[in-house]
Amino acid sequence: MIHIVWSPQLLFLWLEDPFAMFPGTMMMARGIPDPQQRSDLVAYLKRASVRSVEEE
Ligand code: HEM
Repeated sequence: MIHIVWSPQLLFLWLEDPFAMFPGTMMMARGIPDPQQRSDLVAYLKRASVRSVEEE
């Protein structure tokens, strides 16, 4: 079992192609090749997460 602490940077890499990062993953989403779309999504998730709102 690999223990990962997800950061915005890691999420950005993961979402490009989940299977490329972890070939055994069951996340069947194909990934988001467009870096702009990925960075928008990561920014959205950051804003939407309670912890990052508290940290602001
Ligand atoms: C906004 C889109 C998405 C984001 C940000 C996202 C993010 C993540 C992350 C970070 C993990 C790893 C969680 C962990 O174990 O620490 C994960 C796992 C997973 N995701 Fe997604 N995901 C997205 C979309 C999807 C979609 C559309 C599906 C299904 C079609 C999906 C299915 C799964 C599954 C099944 C896993 C478990 C993989 C495994 O343990 O092998 N995800 N996702």
